Amino acid sequence: MHSALTLSGIPLEAAQIAGREVASREVASREVASREIANREIANRDIATREVADRDAPARAGGAVSAAAARASGVDGGCRPFVKWAGGKRQLLPELRRYVPQRFERYIEPFVGGGALFFGLSGRLVPVAAPVAAPAAATAVSAAPRALLGDVNERLIRTYRGVRDSVEDVIERLGGYLHEAEFYYRMREVAIDERGDAEVAAWLIYLNKIGFNGLYRVNRQNRFNVPFGRHKNPTICDAITLRACSRALQGVELEVIDFERAAERAQPGDLVYFDPPYVPLSVTSSFTKYTSDGFDAERQVRLRDVALALKQRGVHVLLSNSSADFVRELYHKDFELIEVSATRLVNSKATRRGAITELVIR
Ligand SMILES: C[S@@+](CC[C@H](N)C(=O)[O-])C[C@H]1O[C@@H](n2cnc3c(N)ncnc32)[C@H](O)[C@@H]1O
Repeated sequence: MHSALTLSGIPLEAAQIAGREVASREVASREVASREIANREIANRDIATREVADRDAPARAGGAVSAAAARASGVDGGCRPFVKWAGGKRQLLPELRRYVPQRFERYIEPFVGGGALFFGLSGRLVPVAAPVAAPAAATAVSAAPRALLGDVNERLIRTYRGVRDSVEDVIERLGGYLHEAEFYYRMREVAIDERGDAEVAAWLIYLNKIGFNGLYRVNRQNRFNVPFGRHKNPTICDAITLRACSRALQGVELEVIDFERAAERAQPGDLVYFDPPYVPLSVTSSFTKYTSDGFDAERQVRLRDVALALKQRGVHVLLSNSSADFVRELYHKDFELIEVSATRLVNSKATRRGAITELVIR
């Protein structure tokens, strides 16, 4: 377990600057000590959980089967996004699940964000392994990646790769990061794109947990510029969730890719779930000059065309979007529109939440 006071695991520049400053102050503050204890408790709980998984898992023939056994024993039941993401679909998960086909080949999510549906379905995405007694050819786990997750946000995709490939490294780094404004602002300045995936992952997860409202926002120079948040006692390192997500991501392709390129990779029988930046509710069917998160009306039209072409090729397609007139107009002819109710932040004040209608489209 890391000592939070040694600052080990922090990117070099941040460690040098922050280390000098933190060392010259009252570093053994109660807050740091209690964070350290909390992190240790989480790690201990996780070890205990894994021991239960190992004990309960039946004899296995390989890594994929082992992960499936862990899921069957309920250990992965808590698989959920490791970052909070704007437009995250955890609220809609029960509704979305109802419209996921019983059978599909590969799962493709071109606007992955926090990946709520992917993680919610991950128990179903394990490559199928035949029983150990079957002939050798039949025991091989499918070599084809079982899922493709894409997004244009390179740091986000590198974060997924860090969690998939080096989760213990990510956990160790996060264990040394502090819930403290000065430390946060130093971390924000780190030239993170020059670092490895595990470091990018720890950096992004830390800023997401500590920054205001879990926002990811950058300026024109791609510098992260979200202010320090007002969290009382944030869990910087949720080792259980990170390890569960890492298991879910094994064998998954992760790409920095535009949605149209990702869609080209779909084959008949695959499931493609599109969750684009939403059309603002105020946009009427005739108003086409809007932009939301760099995603304008023209792109929404292209997305509809891509989705329709996939459907016609025998690919299962599922989309979500707002219930703006513009969206209804785009899809009503060739798709089924299902109104669902989601609790969303409908006002800048965190206390003002309300149920609004959104669309699941297929
Ligand atoms: C609404 S969020 C997805 C939320 C996600 N379903 C979840 O549960 O957290 C939309 C995502 O699309 C990504 N994005 C925006 N434009 C894109 C494009 N042209 N191609 C691929 N991804 C894009 C954004 O970076 C963002 O992460």
